[in-house]
Amino acid sequence: MAQLEAEDITQAVIDRMADCQDPRFKQVMTALVKHAHAFIREVQLSEEEWINAILFLTETGKMCDDKRQEFILLSDTLGISMLVVALNQLKAARAFQQGGGGAEQPTEATVQGPFYWEGAPALPLGADIGENMPGEPAYYQGRVTDTEGRPIANCCLDVWSGDGEGVYDMQMGDDAGMRLRARFHTDEDGRYRFWSIKPSFYPVPDDGPVGGMLRRMGRHPNRPGHIHMKVYAPGHQSVTTHLFVADSPYLDSDAVFGVRNSLIVPFTTHPPGTAPDGRAMDRPYHSATYDFRLVPAR
Ligand code: BEZ
Ligand code: FE
Repeated sequence: MAQLEAEDITQAVIDRMADCQDPRFKQVMTALVKHAHAFIREVQLSEEEWINAILFLTETGKMCDDKRQEFILLSDTLGISMLVVALNQLKAARAFQQGGGGAEQPTEATVQGPFYWEGAPALPLGADIGENMPGEPAYYQGRVTDTEGRPIANCCLDVWSGDGEGVYDMQMGDDAGMRLRARFHTDEDGRYRFWSIKPSFYPVPDDGPVGGMLRRMGRHPNRPGHIHMKVYAPGHQSVTTHLFVADSPYLDSDAVFGVRNSLIVPFTTHPPGTAPDGRAMDRPYHSATYDFRLVPAR
């Protein structure tokens, strides 16, 4: 049959995959075709709307380079990144419970975002990655254990954040390289400590097609203040997560839907004086304490 009617096209596309040798790819593509066609039917998409969508995606692609990832931003602001993270976390949690669980709940994951930069310098515990950057100093400390409470020594915390005005090094428009990033490794007791700044809320980059989409949707582009971490150690499942600043605006309306209650951390403000690591502080500073829990790889 040469001619396909509108109601036959969906099945015809699926039937063309009869020779597909990759069952998972076939399953994903079949569902994608079904849902995309159902969406077009539901909204009765006009030709003009479809060409506008293609132009939008073209502009999104043109905005991607090694410092700007507009497609990740699109996925994040549509809640897709967080949905993928949350579903996989649920799956991992079920496997964890079926395997007997642990005394403690593992640290929750959230979105990675577009500002991760591989190869941050490994710095000694206690180092300050916020020195000379805009922002109020903050001391971060805590412990990494497994879900039975056993300390994980030499666990890597790969940390990154924007400055106290919410700007990431990648957005600073210079070639000065990495700032406000480092890898720290826990001591024998699983403890970590370092200095940075208290992160501010900030808008996700909104000068591109995604920003235009957000404005048209009537949405703000802001994320609550947070610091990112990837926490990993041999023999354990790694977690990509944030610590959110408890008194930050936008916790209830994160532009990328990434907030988890278990990751909201109070930042205590201290007057000038001696900090917990003995550092003499001549200006007020903040401190935040958070313990991470990793699931042993079974
Ligand atoms: C971030 O937290 O760095 C981020 C996440 C999603 C989109 C933009 C930024
Ligand atoms: Fe961020």
